[in-house]
Amino acid sequence: MKAAYITETGVPSVIKYGDLPQPQPGAGEVLVKVGAVAVNPIDTYLRAGAIAMPLSFPFIIGCDLAGTVTAVGTGVTRFKVGDRVWGSNQSLFGRRGTFAELAAVHEQWLYPTPTKESEAEAAAGALVGITAHLGLFQFAKLQPGEIVFVNGGAGGVGSSVIQMAKGAGATVITTAGSAEKQELCRRFGADLVLDYRSPGMDDEIRKFVADRGGINVWFESLREPTLDRTVSLMAPRGRILAMAGRQVRPEFPWGPFYVKDLSLHGFAMFNASPDEQRECANGINAMFDRGAWQPQIGKTFPLSEAAAAHQLQQDNTLDKKGTLHGKIVLVP
Ligand SMILES: NC(=O)c1ccc[n+]([C@@H]2O[C@H](COP(=O)([O-])OP(=O)(O)OC[C@H]3O[C@@H](n4cnc5c(N)ncnc54)[C@H](OP(=O)(O)O)[C@@H]3O)[C@@H](O)[C@H]2O)c1
Repeated sequence: MKAAYITETGVPSVIKYGDLPQPQPGAGEVLVKVGAVAVNPIDTYLRAGAIAMPLSFPFIIGCDLAGTVTAVGTGVTRFKVGDRVWGSNQSLFGRRGTFAELAAVHEQWLYPTPTKESEAEAAAGALVGITAHLGLFQFAKLQPGEIVFVNGGAGGVGSSVIQMAKGAGATVITTAGSAEKQELCRRFGADLVLDYRSPGMDDEIRKFVADRGGINVWFESLREPTLDRTVSLMAPRGRILAMAGRQVRPEFPWGPFYVKDLSLHGFAMFNASPDEQRECANGINAMFDRGAWQPQIGKTFPLSEAAAAHQLQQDNTLDKKGTLHGKIVLVP
């Protein structure tokens, strides 16, 4: 089968595309004929060797996938041949990746794909959707009527947070780097959309939240948090989510933080158990069914161009080139 894989860590061009042996589904696994996969920033960190995770070469890259079950291993109870499925969390902790024509995936990481959802959409919403759901509901315990702030509302995580928070009855403030991306954030339902380069941004936020006491949930999707500023914009008992920038060691505004009864929750989606992630997936599927979940696909590549897809992701997440809105999807 054709696959995108690496035999060493490094720059995007270390990704090869070629034939590897077809996997066989082991106990509890299903074999998925892959219809679409999506790129996430963590794929680029793994490929670069920037995260300590076990990699055995040749290493098939990729966390997210959507496709159709073509065979089941022993003991599989959730799926049968012909079922459409989506999932995430592959290529982590020694698991095989998804960037191939076929992937053997343990059924605990897979969910049914809604009938009307395309495989490209299901793959595009996988890791970012589960991340947004975990952050908003498991960690921040978002309540209807609260105010959520998220940076980068046209990005993978940001666009998911907007849609999920709006679906839960929250008011959403977000930022984006161009007029086109700001318009996209409005289409997702954001109530206040700001240019993150605007010097008057914080004054606009203060004016918007003035009669509500501040922001209740700050979902920080940037790798460089501005904690002094964030804490000053929060409402009493607000929750701040930390989920990006593993290298950063910012100063912490201890005094202003505790006098507002704020809390700070760090999380990485890959630490969540299969049951916790399934709860998120069920919520995401229910949102799709009621027309409230539309994963944003910014660019589609053939799987053979996985190296170019990684370069584009890296250009945007790490180098902030601003040339992407939404997710990169690849089709085998
Ligand atoms: N902890 C976890 O479980 C977890 C899960 C998923 C992702 N992450 C991390 O979360 C981060 C975001 O992931 P992603 O998939 O959303 O990446 P992404 O799709 O590349 O989005 C990055 C966003 O950042 C925005 N941005 C750039 N500079 C900005 C600035 N100065 N102010 C405000 N926004 C700015 C960009 O906006 P424009 O395009 O408008 O310029 C873009 O929307 C990554 O670091 C990733 O590793 C963590």
